[in-house]
Amino acid sequence: MIDFARMPTLHKAYGGANGKKISIVYNNEIYMLKFPAVSVKKAGDTNSCVCEYLGCRIFQSVGVPVQEVLLGTYTTSQGQKIVVACKDFTSQGVVLQDFVSTKNQIIDSEYQGCKTELSGILDIFDKQSAIDREELSQRFWDMFIVDALIGNWDRHNGNWGFLYNTAADELSLAPVYDCGSCLFSQADMTIIESILSDKNELNDRVYNRPTSAITVNGKRINYFDFISSCDNEECSEALKRIFPKIDITHLENIIDEIPVLNDLQKQFYKVIVKQRYERILRYSYSKISGK
Ligand SMILES: Nc1ncnc2c1ncn2[C@@H]1O[C@H](COP(=O)(O)OP(=O)(O)OP(=O)(O)O)[C@@H](O)[C@H]1O
Ligand SMILES: [Mg+2]
Repeated sequence: MIDFARMPTLHKAYGGANGKKISIVYNNEIYMLKFPAVSVKKAGDTNSCVCEYLGCRIFQSVGVPVQEVLLGTYTTSQGQKIVVACKDFTSQGVVLQDFVSTKNQIIDSEYQGCKTELSGILDIFDKQSAIDREELSQRFWDMFIVDALIGNWDRHNGNWGFLYNTAADELSLAPVYDCGSCLFSQADMTIIESILSDKNELNDRVYNRPTSAITVNGKRINYFDFISSCDNEECSEALKRIFPKIDITHLENIIDEIPVLNDLQKQFYKVIVKQRYERILRYSYSKISGK
């Protein structure tokens, strides 16, 4: 694996609440280097960098444009950290404009930009005029389906958005970024073992947890309930687009090729992805196809 501590650094800085980040140059390209988020129990580092890497690779595997990621290390005299390098997708005159900003811009919107109530988000799709409504809606729901697969609880309005071309005054969809809060990135070896050995624990991680950052009537969406209800037509259409592109064997190979994971961790990620695939997505897909 690449040790990114040897790479030149830049003064560019990135926001976000989940862990330290620095800007580095690697192979003449700028990367945001993400360090592991600290566990809520403060017991050490989470697996957020591996989860970021895996989540992005899964988006890539189904053809949703996503930031390019490289897994590596960062070695100093203090020790070694697992880090993920995310290729910076901005460039001269092309800046990231997140969905919070777009939402703030719609002055007759009911809610403020960071509010993730679904009806308020969908209302913006209709009211904004910077980007084709269909393209925007499809990206949102494609992301929702893949986030359900990888168990992402943090797709808030700041975690997706647009690239703004300042010279042309034009927006396009930004690649997907920030997948660090997926695949139970906070789970340590004890939790991993309990999920793998206890059917009820695993069921809980498929049917109940995590919930989506998007809310309905103020309550975070339960991925299984929402997708399998088939009530939202655009969500079902996204499932029809994405589901046939998921290749579980390919995803298992991606997991197997991650050098920093032990056998139990590899088994854990494979089980979580496969079970969520079968019991949330395949179940709902069969229901829709039978309709
Ligand atoms: N590949 C990228 N290229 C350019 N800018 C990026 C990229 N990925 C993220 N950013 C910017 O950096 C910010 C922080 O990154 P990221 O969202 O991954 O961090 P985080 O700490 O996990 O965030 P959160 O607070 O949502 O958990 C993003 O909000 C976005 O503005
Ligand atoms: Mg973020």
